Amino acid sequence: MADLRENIARILLTEEELQAKVAEMAALISEDYKDKQLLLVGVLKGSMVFMADLMRKLNINAKIDFMSVSSYGSSTVSSGQVRIILDLKRPVENYDLLLVEDILDSGATLSYLKELLLARQPKSIRIATLLDKPERRKANIAADYRGFEIPDEFVVGYGLDYDEDYRNLPFIGVLRPEAYA
Ligand code: IMP
Ligand code: MG
Repeated sequence: MADLRENIARILLTEEELQAKVAEMAALISEDYKDKQLLLVGVLKGSMVFMADLMRKLNINAKIDFMSVSSYGSSTVSSGQVRIILDLKRPVENYDLLLVEDILDSGATLSYLKELLLARQPKSIRIATLLDKPERRKANIAADYRGFEIPDEFVVGYGLDYDEDYRNLPFIGVLRPEAYA
């Protein structure tokens, strides 16, 4: 078994930086949703660590649910095609949805999900993403809450994976290109 950190070229965001940013985002969201019916919709699996931290920093009621879509194989480049693997448990008409994502990259995943959920007529729908790689955007979509804008490098940790590995790193790091060459 390879060491978890041996393929990390450098740390991009430390645990402390992540926690501080998530707290800032949670404060904004708590304020904006204090009179709403917040339903956090986590996009599995990448958002799970961010979602777990974010929800515990909110000081308002928040229900949670999850969706899982697949667009990446074991490559680091999106196929652009999105497929639903897991859908929400209940109708969303009575809720203000906040889609929670790890990273907004080409935008294919979130634009697909936003359209799909809008068709179910929620009270409102917004996007919270921890990371944003604007250079790589193909779809016309932006986040309403965004943690960090990052350069076009493949990152792992804090939920983000390469071929299902590295999600359990507590920080976000840049993967050595040799690790996925
Ligand atoms: P999009 O549909 O191209 O915006 O891709 C979004 C998904 O691609 C994210 O939810 C991640 O799972 C994955 N992804 C994009 N960039 C990275 C990265 O740098 N590291 C790990 N996963 C990534
Ligand atoms: Mg993901």
